[in-house]
Amino acid sequence: MAVLEIKTFPDKILKEKTSPVTEFGSGLQSLIDDMIETMYASSGVGLAANQVGAAKRVIVIDVSSRDENVPLLILLNPEIVLSGGEVEDEEGCLSIPGYRTIIKRAENVTVSGLDRHGKPVEIEGSGLLSRALQHEIDHLNGLLIIDRIGTIKREFFKKRYRKTVTSNE
Ligand code: NI
Repeated sequence: MAVLEIKTFPDKILKEKTSPVTEFGSGLQSLIDDMIETMYASSGVGLAANQVGAAKRVIVIDVSSRDENVPLLILLNPEIVLSGGEVEDEEGCLSIPGYRTIIKRAENVTVSGLDRHGKPVEIEGSGLLSRALQHEIDHLNGLLIIDRIGTIKREFFKKRYRKTVTSNE
């Protein structure tokens, strides 16, 4: 297993559409293991494959730091099949280090997909799990948290973030 480099805004791969997984061989298995390792090394609660440079529909989530009853989740080709309620909470993203903002999301979601061996699974989530599922599926569709905030907030972010990035160089 290896810790991979996390692509950060404005890397183009974060905006690309990802492809469904159709093969479940050793290449995929090591990508998944590396993603898990990378998520833990960065203290994240979730990671999407395009964040580590692989444009495939793969996500990993571990919210056990907040809710110990939820196991590590590995989902391929995830789709939201049901959602309900609405809740606002603060969110960050490993691809936008140092930035946090309030995002409105569905309170509960049901997500269907495949496990790492291609077997169909369905996950129901509320709380942080629901938020993480929506956040990671957004990544697979080329969407970041800054695409979920208003225009004025986004312009402000772009100016400020560019300044922060420049001053770190
Ligand atoms: Ni993210």
